[in-house]
Amino acid sequence: MPSTEELKQTAANLLHSKGLHLVSFHVIQLLWAGYGYICRIQAIPTTSLSLTTRKNKPISLILKHITPPPTGGTLTESHTRKLLSYQVEQYFYATLAPLMPPDIPVASCISCNDTTTGRNTMLLLTDLKETYPVPGELHAELSSPQVYAALDWLADFHAFWWGRVSDFDRESLCRPPLEHLRQHSGDRDLRCENVWLNGGYTYFATRRDEFRDLLQDETSEWAEALSAAPAIGYPSVAELVARILAPSKDRHTVSPYETLIHGDVKSENLFTTTNGTTAAFYDFQYVGLGLGVTDLAKLFTCSVPPAMLVVDRHEGRMSEGEEKLLRYYLERLLRRSGKKYEWVVFVRHWETAVVDWLRFQASWGFWGNTDWLEGRARAILRDGGWRGWLVDEAI
Ligand SMILES: Nc1ncnc2c1ncn2[C@@H]1O[C@H](COP(=O)(O)OP(=O)(O)O)[C@@H](O)[C@H]1O
Ligand SMILES: [Mg+2]
Repeated sequence: MPSTEELKQTAANLLHSKGLHLVSFHVIQLLWAGYGYICRIQAIPTTSLSLTTRKNKPISLILKHITPPPTGGTLTESHTRKLLSYQVEQYFYATLAPLMPPDIPVASCISCNDTTTGRNTMLLLTDLKETYPVPGELHAELSSPQVYAALDWLADFHAFWWGRVSDFDRESLCRPPLEHLRQHSGDRDLRCENVWLNGGYTYFATRRDEFRDLLQDETSEWAEALSAAPAIGYPSVAELVARILAPSKDRHTVSPYETLIHGDVKSENLFTTTNGTTAAFYDFQYVGLGLGVTDLAKLFTCSVPPAMLVVDRHEGRMSEGEEKLLRYYLERLLRRSGKKYEWVVFVRHWETAVVDWLRFQASWGFWGNTDWLEGRARAILRDGGWRGWLVDEAI
């Protein structure tokens, strides 16, 4: 990892190339497992340096500086996922975010380095805290206005990309880590200049090892429930669910609803305005194709206050609270996109995303609204209507 002085110099050079002069610099966070730094920077235009009265208020910027730790030659699935994720994020900010309208707030990319020439990734972003000062994780869970603000942002983001993902060149989308390694085994460096083919980092194709461990766990009710086939002669529920959610051009009943998903929706990845009514998301390392409901499944489990969801007493069926939030999201999605998504179809997709998220947490470890998630998953897995739909859709 570079020293703070080296980092400061890198920041000054990056700013200089953009006609900006470094005024102050401090590291605000180390990235996960020593992969780099996040720094807050104040800068002023170089032109205003010569002015005797410095009228320009410094602008606040964020530097996300990635220097992956050495691997000793072995590329694990998780390290590969991380390395690719920073390139995906850079691609998103540099290429896709500028296409979005300003009323779906994301940070603007002031500068980023050319990742084809080295392993380090640098992103210089506008500081969202200037307009959205309240971090989502300030309290353990979001407040009610913040939940609606997050749903607004997600509905708008999903709606915007819904009509556009069919234009993406699927061949160049970033494959799951192990598949990417196989495809590019001769390459010296890992490269990906696009978003993920499958958004998120919990989908089945990238979590096989954990699932195998779950199946060995005789104390878990989920080993049996997820490995059972929904009908004789069919693959397991976990497998069919994964097939439905995996982006595919050919699955006519699901692919028309595919959009770009954020891929890591939780309170720690958003800021809101002081009154909590408008949210801005960041952390686009796992942005890629998928159904919008997958973003919702993580949000509901990890960040929505349990009182807004309460599983009803009638055997874990969808509660009024859950339905209210889902209908709110869907109405906004439809208003913004001008497209059609029947409630019954949407609910089947939602139920499928809940079971898939449960599969991840059962394999990885539970956190968040566990009672709600397990209660809902039990009810969905028991529901003959859903199982019949799953079999029809996935084959
Ligand atoms: N554009 C931004 N504006 C303000 N703060 C940001 C911005 N991007 C990231 N941050 C800050 O940096 C922290 C880490 O960024 P993030 O992209 O979520 O990386 P990671 O989750 O991999 O650590 C965030 O929690 C946030 O406080
Ligand atoms: Mg984050």
